[in-house]
Amino acid sequence: MTQTTQITQLTKKPTPYYYYNKEILQQTLDAVKAEVSKHDNYFVHYAIKANANPIVLEPIREAGFGIDCVSGGEIEVSLKAGFPAEKIVFAGVGKADWEIEMGIDNNIFCFNVESIPELEVINTIAEQKGKVANICLRINPNVGAHTHANITTGLSENKFGIDMAHMFDVIKMAKNMKNVAFKGLHFHIGSQILEMDDFIALCHRINELQDQLDEQGISVGIINVGGGLGVDYDDPMGNPIPQFKEFFEVYNTHLKLREGQELHFELGRAIVAQCGSLMTKVLYMKDNTNKKFAIVDAGFTELIRPALYGAHHKIVNLTSDGPLETYDVVGPICESSDTFDTDIQLNQVKRGDLIAILSAGAYGESMASCYNCRRLPKSYSSEDILAE
Ligand code: LLP
Repeated sequence: MTQTTQITQLTKKPTPYYYYNKEILQQTLDAVKAEVSKHDNYFVHYAIKANANPIVLEPIREAGFGIDCVSGGEIEVSLKAGFPAEKIVFAGVGKADWEIEMGIDNNIFCFNVESIPELEVINTIAEQKGKVANICLRINPNVGAHTHANITTGLSENKFGIDMAHMFDVIKMAKNMKNVAFKGLHFHIGSQILEMDDFIALCHRINELQDQLDEQGISVGIINVGGGLGVDYDDPMGNPIPQFKEFFEVYNTHLKLREGQELHFELGRAIVAQCGSLMTKVLYMKDNTNKKFAIVDAGFTELIRPALYGAHHKIVNLTSDGPLETYDVVGPICESSDTFDTDIQLNQVKRGDLIAILSAGAYGESMASCYNCRRLPKSYSSEDILAE
């Protein structure tokens, strides 16, 4: 199919909708697998919060990855999508009792526990069910990440994880409990991280903690370093595959694993961001004194990242090759923050043009809402489009 025919096909679908390019997703999965398969003790759990659409879940499951969940709903969706329970990890600072029950009933691989009271509740519920729940303790490593403040999680001022100073006490508590089995440590420092130095800093912190554990004769089977690898939002077409080689090489080089230890990862964005685009049509053009607005039919209900984090997604006009002009691309929602970007260059825009907002596969559709009583967006894969 030529590019022009493909664009014609894309224009036929009612907008706004998410379009998932399965070829890019597969190339991304192959790139991750190529790195992970160099080590027989590395395991990837896809962070399903990034995107829970069956279109992306199927190839991810086929790639053999597990799942990182943060809610009972995510556990349900993962099981329904065919992910084996023994590959599911479950994190989150506020797990409700029913969610813990669901994890225990399904014998998930591991709970990433974020506080002492949570540990106690898991132990009690497991006891009631006559079971033993595997747990890792999520330790807050107090390592900063060069990313947006709202998506930094590894600083002691963040709500996540157990303070390093309490690590030994909590391990001792866990070891004394009959219905939890202490398996290891979990970390996650933030998201959209492009500086490998941040991950190196995490490795150094884990090495320090492991030295302290050795001194106390405590052995740990699992180290889970979370996710966080960022993607190129500026040049998604030139650079569709994230720096997986560098990322896994950091851990291979800097993290001193002990004999027999497993290293687990929870990548979300890096796996799905670049395969997804939000497709939207131009409803109206509006010229104010200093601005030209392209008013499109998608809003922050479909993609909230620009409004919430000031994130920039590359935007292209698929149906024009007119001269470049400067526009603000805005949505229909009754809030000024419903702006996808300001002062960007697009090929001359007119009503009816099809606009693609790129790198929207992660935290796009999964964060969509029905504000203003809008309908949730539909989605299509490249295979759906090709089939017509
Ligand atoms: N593990 C844990 C414990 C997490 O909290 C997260 C993301 C991940 C793994 C996956 O991180 P990733 O590989 O995707 O960076 N909505 C925000 C991102 C929030 C990330 C939350 N936690 C955004 O649109 O940028």
